[in-house]
Amino acid sequence: MSRHIILLSMKNSYPSEVYMNGKWLPAAEATVSVFDRGFMFGDGIYEVTPFYGGKPFLLQEHLDRMSYCLKEIDLEFEKKDLKKLIFEAVDRAGLAQNDCAVYLQVTRGKAPRTHHFPQQVEPTFLMYAFAVQLEGFEDRKLTIKLSPDIRWQRCDIKSISLMANTMLNSEAIQKGHFENVLFRNNRITEGSHSSIFFIKDQKVYTHPEGPEILSGITRRFVIELCTELEIEVIEEAVSLEELSAMEGIFLTGTTTQILHVTSVFQNDRELYNSSEAGAITKKLQEAFRKKTRGL
Ligand code: PDD
Repeated sequence: MSRHIILLSMKNSYPSEVYMNGKWLPAAEATVSVFDRGFMFGDGIYEVTPFYGGKPFLLQEHLDRMSYCLKEIDLEFEKKDLKKLIFEAVDRAGLAQNDCAVYLQVTRGKAPRTHHFPQQVEPTFLMYAFAVQLEGFEDRKLTIKLSPDIRWQRCDIKSISLMANTMLNSEAIQKGHFENVLFRNNRITEGSHSSIFFIKDQKVYTHPEGPEILSGITRRFVIELCTELEIEVIEEAVSLEELSAMEGIFLTGTTTQILHVTSVFQNDRELYNSSEAGAITKKLQEAFRKKTRGL
């Protein structure tokens, strides 16, 4: 079996071992109380941080976002040597030379059911590494659909309550698209699991940070890359009416990286088409590859 096929087949399998509440455990032995607030309320946050060939990429930025989210939901969680544990997760999964990611999740823990946050509860912490296919993103061709953004109004918090995101993404997948990209008040916000950028007149546009979108780590890195490459970035939302005039569209994210979008559909009607990535998308993809692969 080629490495490519092995990595793809690992994608939808369980990890053999996880780190949970201070211990490394076979995944089958890692259990959580039915009274855990993550299970009952979706009361918790998560993070996904990538490793390229076993090397971390923007790890501190991911940990900083996790701290921000914990603060926003008033959840106290301190883990000594967290970075060391993250590296250990990669090592233990046998992925120290591979492309992979580490999933981290903190829930408020087990407590009698109340809507208000309980006091003095021990958070539940779960972490594991898993293989991801990060090679070949430059050659992928994908389509997206547009839908009203039915999520809550604190999309800056990387909450584990992902009901709307999973409904929206499933709808896109069922229709043969990669992603469902969302709009609120006619302005395009982001995808169900990715950020979105537009290109017009040699300028790059993306929705500004704030409660309407997740502050994507890849999004911010791509903005920095634009600055380095002297490409003007405008952090302004694109409206549905402006969409058809765009000259390029790409999605970004930790596992998405930078993906060129070939078509955009709304209610099964194609609003936009661009079969090949343009010069700006290609330049950003190449720069991204170099940075992530340390070339
Ligand atoms: N998703 N917007 C949303 C709603 C997301 O869920 C994600 C990431 C992004 C991109 O953020 P970043 O560049 O920091 O990965 C934007 C992750 C990977 C997930 O849910 O698995």
